Amino acid sequence: MHVNGKVALVTGGAQGIGRAFVQALLGKGAKVALLDRNSEAGQKSKAVLDEQFEAQRTVFIQCDVTDQEQLKGAFEKVIEHFGRLDIVVNNAGVNNEKDWESTIQINLVSIISFHMFILQYLMLRST
Ligand SMILES: NC(=O)c1ccc[n+]([C@@H]2O[C@H](COP(=O)([O-])OP(=O)(O)OC[C@H]3O[C@@H](n4cnc5c(N)ncnc54)[C@H](O)[C@@H]3O)[C@@H](O)[C@H]2O)c1
Repeated sequence: MHVNGKVALVTGGAQGIGRAFVQALLGKGAKVALLDRNSEAGQKSKAVLDEQFEAQRTVFIQCDVTDQEQLKGAFEKVIEHFGRLDIVVNNAGVNNEKDWESTIQINLVSIISFHMFILQYLMLRST
């Protein structure tokens, strides 16, 4: 897949696997929006990435993926900032057996609902 010049959104992009996705996408020429509920980690990551890539190629947006309004607001900010969206990495997740309800909400429900939301955008765009 050609990613040069495309716009990507990575949930949970502030650290871990999400952050590695962000780095790889930037390395291949994409512009990337990092979404994460952890504002401190998100801002730190953006600052580090800005030393390696042009600052305007990344944007950090604080967002909790379990909150549909925040997620839609973040999507709108990405469109406002970059003008389009081509790639979504639905990565945000936790591994917390003690709080299984929140774990299912983050790892399953949010993934599916954001996926459905993005599909609508991509289908509208292609008509
Ligand atoms: N690391 C592994 O070996 C491994 C293996 C298999 C699956 N996974 C899964 O892959 C995903 C990422 O793993 P990781 O190791 O990078 O984890 P990580 O904890 O290092 O990073 C996850 C990121 O997601 C963010 N996040 C969590 N909940 C969020 C929410 N509600 N809204 C927005 N952001 C949120 C966190 O703030 C964090 O920045 C997780 O779902 C994890 O369970 C990880």
